[in-house]
Amino acid sequence: MAQATQTRGPVSGTAGSSKKRRKFFLLDLYSTAVGKKYAMAISGIMLLGFVFVHMIGNLKMYLGAEDLNHYGEFLRELLVPILPRTVLLWLLRFGLLGAVAVHIHAAVSLTRLNRQARSVKYQSPRDYQVATFASRTMRWTGIIVFLFVFWHLADLTWGWWNATGNDGTFVRGDAYGNVVRSFERVPVAVLYIVANIALGTHLFHGVWSLFQSMGWNNPKFKEWRRYIAVAFATLIVVGNVSFPIAVLAGIVGK
Ligand code: HEM
Repeated sequence: MAQATQTRGPVSGTAGSSKKRRKFFLLDLYSTAVGKKYAMAISGIMLLGFVFVHMIGNLKMYLGAEDLNHYGEFLRELLVPILPRTVLLWLLRFGLLGAVAVHIHAAVSLTRLNRQARSVKYQSPRDYQVATFASRTMRWTGIIVFLFVFWHLADLTWGWWNATGNDGTFVRGDAYGNVVRSFERVPVAVLYIVANIALGTHLFHGVWSLFQSMGWNNPKFKEWRRYIAVAFATLIVVGNVSFPIAVLAGIVGK
């Protein structure tokens, strides 16, 4: 008996959509949740690199005004005379701005995707508690860090508020003096400390989850992921919080 053979059309749009105009492959990837997670992780790694180098560079403060200000000048002179003065610094700044934009865009769109996927709220508080404090507060610590960076630039790069220091005005090129004048104001020192604790919480969960996003999540290394996340966040917070404390304690000063 002859068996009827059934022919099936393509299950989804994939096989039959060859005529559809394809986007550039990176945009195609970014339109998926996995792509957005990669984008968050890669832009996150760039930002982690900046935060680390910035903290290490600022340790020059303990060597004195000349060393810190010389370091600032070194950054402006990067690759001179191959490139004109400050050109590489500006390229790095644009790279950093791009990383911030991608990080925020991916975070917002992933949150939207998650909300669409979970139209019903968690049924039991236990499900909710499984997430750590750091993971539940990522959005808030992210917003605090973003606002802090804007305020920090206005204080130490543009000098908008620095001039209200005890005895002087903002001096372009004198990073050391500007930092000291700024941190001598107790409310400012406290603001730096609070913002850096928020940054540490954000970094802890960020480092931990970037291993997951990049697929480096072998269960054998689960404990190591936690150690690395704790160590990195602690290093940055201790380093950064030490600066306002050192100024208030008179260890670093004019
Ligand atoms: C207490 C800790 C910190 C100190 C003492 C400090 C100090 C400084 C100083 C002195 C400058 C100006 C350099 C100059 O224009 O000559 C600066 C710039 C900057 N800081 Fe910080 N900073 C701290 C924490 C942070 C944190 C936690 C972030 C980010 C999360 C950050 C992000 C930036 C950015 C984006 C710039 C501009 C860099 C540029 O213009 O190339 N800083 N910081």
